[in-house]
Amino acid sequence: MILTEAGTSPLRVGLLGWGAIGRGVAEQIEASTRAGDRSVVLSAVASRFSDGSTHPLAVAAEEIGTSCDVVVEAAGPDALRVHGERCLTAGADLLVVSIGALMDTRLLEQLISAGPGRPHLCSGAIGGLDLLAAARNYGPIQRIVLETTKPGATLVRDWMSDDLRRDLLYPSPGSNSVECFRGTVADAVQRFPESLNVSAALALAAGDDSVVEVAVIGSSTATTNTHDITIDSAAGQYRFSISNRPSPTNPRSSHITAWAVVRSLRSLAGCERMAFR
Ligand SMILES: NC(=O)c1ccc[n+]([C@@H]2O[C@H](COP(=O)([O-])OP(=O)(O)OC[C@H]3O[C@@H](n4cnc5c(N)ncnc54)[C@H](O)[C@@H]3O)[C@@H](O)[C@H]2O)c1
Repeated sequence: MILTEAGTSPLRVGLLGWGAIGRGVAEQIEASTRAGDRSVVLSAVASRFSDGSTHPLAVAAEEIGTSCDVVVEAAGPDALRVHGERCLTAGADLLVVSIGALMDTRLLEQLISAGPGRPHLCSGAIGGLDLLAAARNYGPIQRIVLETTKPGATLVRDWMSDDLRRDLLYPSPGSNSVECFRGTVADAVQRFPESLNVSAALALAAGDDSVVEVAVIGSSTATTNTHDITIDSAAGQYRFSISNRPSPTNPRSSHITAWAVVRSLRSLAGCERMAFR
């Protein structure tokens, strides 16, 4: 248990991505600022504004690392590839939300070796990563199985066969779930780049993606995004079942993710007085 005091100067946050997560983070920061808490403030926003709108704090994505202390990447794997290293080189820390992109080991190494800013991972839509990381230090992680169940329509992708797409969209009577993928983390994040960040988070916490098996299930009755996680390790056997409400504006994302980002930011700002780390 660590006691910390809030720093005197605010942590200036830049948002890369003004979508479901970016907006959710901004709303929380602005609400805290209005309530008089200035430990974390919004200082820049860089995004493609698809609806033609903009933001009073808008800056070019190429510049965002120069106008804040930490950049929250909530724009997707491509944006992380293009802008991540530049943010770190400009001196800002980088909070990565599109964790699936880090299954590209070249990108992972590039971000780790860049600086002076430091890269951080956001726990995002799942918990238990602290226990998994501790178990990894204890001894070998033998096997992790992640079964992700989401509403079928949110899992439909171009690479699927017509039959599989039909089963996800219009399940036959009596069968309300269909397994649409089983395989490695690298393949999962390739096939579902917006939806399987949690598989990459498990692989990174375990320090080994080869022990992780991923299954993706589309359900006609699911109203939440559920992750059933089983871990066999030298330290013990663990089971987590996490059911998150989908974001109202992006059903492929879990609503909690924006809250996880803000928690990470408050931790970086040193304003969590008694925090789990
Ligand atoms: N770690 C987790 O558990 C977790 C959970 C949910 C979502 N995610 C990931 O977080 C990311 C954001 O999710 P979201 O739901 O907010 O997505 P979203 O589609 O609602 O928003 C993405 C935003 O980024 C912008 N954008 C895309 N490419 C850009 C670029 N190159 N430069 C600037 N802006 C760009 C888009 O215009 C949009 O405003 C996704 O990659 C998603 O997979 C991670």
